Amino acid sequence: KTVSILSVPFDLGAGRKGVHLSPNAILQAGLEQRLADAGVSCVLEGEVVPPSTGKGKQNTADNLKNLEEVVTVNEKLADRVEAVVRKGQFPLVLGGDHSIAIGTLSGLTRHYKNLGVIWFDAHSDLNTAETSPSGNIHGMSLAVGLGMGDPRLTKIKEGGHPIKSKHVVIIGARSIDEGEKAYINDSGVTCFTMHDIDQMGMEEVIAQTLDLLRDTTDGIHLSFDVDSLDPLEAPGTGTPVKGGVSYREAQFALRLLHESGLITSAEFVEVNPTLESDNATAEVALEFIASLLGEQIL
Ligand code: ARG
Ligand code: MN
Ligand code: MN
Ligand code: MN
Repeated sequence: KTVSILSVPFDLGAGRKGVHLSPNAILQAGLEQRLADAGVSCVLEGEVVPPSTGKGKQNTADNLKNLEEVVTVNEKLADRVEAVVRKGQFPLVLGGDHSIAIGTLSGLTRHYKNLGVIWFDAHSDLNTAETSPSGNIHGMSLAVGLGMGDPRLTKIKEGGHPIKSKHVVIIGARSIDEGEKAYINDSGVTCFTMHDIDQMGMEEVIAQTLDLLRDTTDGIHLSFDVDSLDPLEAPGTGTPVKGGVSYREAQFALRLLHESGLITSAEFVEVNPTLESDNATAEVALEFIASLLGEQIL
């Protein structure tokens, strides 16, 4: 299957500037060549161009910062992702902050009737304007994917098949806000926290994740927030939380996901090249993309 790479240089869903530089940082780290060497055919779909924004304009009145810009970029992204899927290609979306998952999930659910979602993240991104401590929409994107939140955001998903909470698995969480905890506990979303990974090991976490999704979904999207990793190994991200997934655990997980043959789309988000002097975190993202798409060591 051909991989279609969509760049989304957008950072207005996050509280810090700079994640918009990530798609180019990952491409400049050598993504196309690595995939070619791994025998993966890929095409560059180009950028989903975000709207230009009034300087520092942050509409915080509704606790939804930069709402209009988030809506506009995600409407465009949804159409682009939908078009890639309809061509029979594998969408690989390079964020951007995690608010762009709103558009990715929206585009995917116009095609998949029962989409499964694997959400690697230190956070659960299940806030709404009512529960968010920050007003940053990147902390709300999984909630919107599940149909919760402000109608101006959830309307982007109209026309798509709803995602069922039993088809969502969060992996690597260690910073969950109070409102998010309440939702996880009553909703049927599965959440493997860092403690679960400590106890079970990553191999078992991935095995249980795939057992849950294998027979009940018609496609599985991997949404990979690099802050799922330990900041010691992936420091270039805006909301780091100590005690994360190790580089090796993540590599193992991505290799197992590749071997399952079940992943039908992916996105890699929250690499912020302005927060480090080298390109280390973009390079880590590149390694993971290569593993997910089948690069072998030997
Ligand atoms: N839970 C916090 C919030 O809602 C942090 C969210 C961070 N999200 C992310 N995609 N990095 O503000
Ligand atoms: Mn449209
Ligand atoms: Mn996230
Ligand atoms: Mn996160």
